Amino acid sequence: MHLLSTSCVCALLLTALLCQVAGLETVVGLYGETVEIPCNSGAVKAEDAGIIKWKYDKGDGLSGDLLVKRKDQDVVISATDEYKSRVSMAANFSLLLSAAKLTDQRTFTCMVVSQLDIIENPVNVVIYKSPSDLEISDSATELEIGKLAKLGTCVAKDANPAANITWLKNNKPLVADGQGISIQSSVLVDPVTKLSTTKSTLEYSAEKEDAHAQFTCSTQHTVGAELVSPPLTLTITYSTENIVLEVSAQDSLVEGDNLTLQCVADGNPSPTSFYFHLKGELMKVENGDTYTIKNISRDTSGEYKCSLIDNPSMESSKKDVTVNYLDINLSPSGNIVKRAGDALDVTLNITSPETPKVSWTKDGKKLDKQPEFTKLVFMDSGSYECEVTLGPLNRKSSFMLVVEGAPVIQKLSTELSKDGQQVLTCQAEGSPKPTVSWSINGTLLDETPFENGKITHSITVVPSANLTVSCTVSNEFGVDTQAINVSSLYEEVRMDKRDPSDDGDQTKVVVGVVVGLLVATLVLGLAYWVYMKKSKQGSWKTGEKENGSSEEEKKLEEKVEENSQKAEV
Ligand SMILES: *[C@@H]1O[C@H](CO)[C@@H](O)[C@H](O)[C@H]1NC(C)=O
Ligand SMILES: *[C@@H]1O[C@H](CO)[C@@H](O)[C@H](O)[C@H]1NC(C)=O
Ligand SMILES: *[C@@H]1O[C@H](CO)[C@@H](O)[C@H](O)[C@H]1NC(C)=O
Ligand SMILES: *[C@@H]1O[C@H](CO)[C@@H](O)[C@H](O)[C@H]1NC(C)=O
Ligand SMILES: *[C@@H]1O[C@H](CO)[C@@H](O)[C@H](O)[C@H]1NC(C)=O
Repeated sequence: MHLLSTSCVCALLLTALLCQVAGLETVVGLYGETVEIPCNSGAVKAEDAGIIKWKYDKGDGLSGDLLVKRKDQDVVISATDEYKSRVSMAANFSLLLSAAKLTDQRTFTCMVVSQLDIIENPVNVVIYKSPSDLEISDSATELEIGKLAKLGTCVAKDANPAANITWLKNNKPLVADGQGISIQSSVLVDPVTKLSTTKSTLEYSAEKEDAHAQFTCSTQHTVGAELVSPPLTLTITYSTENIVLEVSAQDSLVEGDNLTLQCVADGNPSPTSFYFHLKGELMKVENGDTYTIKNISRDTSGEYKCSLIDNPSMESSKKDVTVNYLDINLSPSGNIVKRAGDALDVTLNITSPETPKVSWTKDGKKLDKQPEFTKLVFMDSGSYECEVTLGPLNRKSSFMLVVEGAPVIQKLSTELSKDGQQVLTCQAEGSPKPTVSWSINGTLLDETPFENGKITHSITVVPSANLTVSCTVSNEFGVDTQAINVSSLYEEVRMDKRDPSDDGDQTKVVVGVVVGLLVATLVLGLAYWVYMKKSKQGSWKTGEKENGSSEEEKKLEEKVEENSQKAEV
């Protein structure tokens, strides 16, 4: 193969050009095209040339005739071989050789016979061809970081001279450095066409930042434009370097929640199978990176981590999982009955890793603090409830307290109502509900509902004389009685007409619903009737003891007599 000397500066154009090399002209032709081989650099004058003949060097000192032109005659093709159909002569005597092949790279000689001389002018023919195609084959789809691996083979097909291949990363040439970049080239010559196919194999050690790099190969051939292969992008693989266990809602886990563990690991491709270390117990998860524990309890608290199945030494750091819980135990509970005056211990035991909020209510009303009962009173009866809250956790417990005991009269009072009647009110405390009775017959005015161990009972009376009325309260645990002096309106009216010393406790009263002077009139009328009859059956007694002595009755009669006498006056 004939190559251009480096000392020869040749401008390569689409048509062949001449170069002077050590006295031998060289013509460069393009493969497949017509090559013009000039005769004596085109310096042959038609009038001087008697005969112009082109022949070629067959090798082994033999030559083959191609064509002959005699002065004033047509060109005669003398070739008998494959050149027969491919040769012709230009007007300036250049040999035109069509469909140039690599086998045409030989010496063609132009022989000019003039009257004075015979000149032989050999011309060396070189046929160039740029690669027909440039592509990367056998390319890797992924590279592992840090490992020298074959990235691909760049193939420049059918060129002459053989193409030189350059590898590029992001359009910057890669140079073999004996470490991360290794390039092996080979050239294969086609036995028929003699065209060379160059193969260049790049071995490359990828780095993380090569994930999006574009790899290409290119050739800048002696003839033709620069060829660049289609780009190749690679998946850069690397093994896991970081692994972390993530815990769902780690700060607010409570019993009953679901706990989701996620193992987050890098690497390309990222790992898909993990071991979850659940407080020392190994759980294998394939095709997923999460593991969920449903309905967690306080026993779920503990240390968790995860690791790779492929590489168990690659494991996350430990995570402490704390499950909050709340247990309460209230004593007493349910319904409890206690005697008034007793003490009652209330204890609320809370089991929780943190301090919760506690609130108390009695019969739905908020209490300032936990109830304490050193000496139970009837008012303490009620429904007690405590509520304990810790974040989303909430517990309630309650007890119903009933305080029992003998009734006690707290207040016994009398009051003059607007319509002139006496209103007697007896207020008592005790449980169960005490029954209230009076020492006189009256009209029931009001009885409050039994609440907090309290009852209030009122009657109206119209006493005819000053007298002592007693209120008696009782239940299964005991009895209490209190008395009150009630003055008679009637007495007050007549006060100036009679001796106050005559007044006595034993006076009996007429109780009625008639008011004021009407009552007095009626009483006077009746007294008069009694006086006239002088009979014992007219005695009036109310509310008081039935077993009243006959002495008392006598005294009443005397008084009634006295009164009626005075009224008559
Ligand atoms: C010979 O003639 C052809 C056209 O027929 C022309 O292209 C070529 O340049 C000429 N060659 C020389 C050496 O003058
Ligand atoms: C959750 O677990 C507790 C015992 O730890 C059980 O009593 C409860 O029924 C469970 N709840 C559900 C929804 O499975
Ligand atoms: C009622 O009056 C009498 C004398 O009038 C007196 O001795 C007694 O203490 C009084 N009772 C009450 C409960 O006030
Ligand atoms: C009734 O009692 C009042 C005092 O509450 C007294 O002033 C009055 O004299 C008494 N009347 C009789 C009849 O005793
Ligand atoms: C009260 O009045 C009723 C009749 O209304 C009578 O039967 C009863 O004996 C009276 N009780 C007293 C204590 O006077």
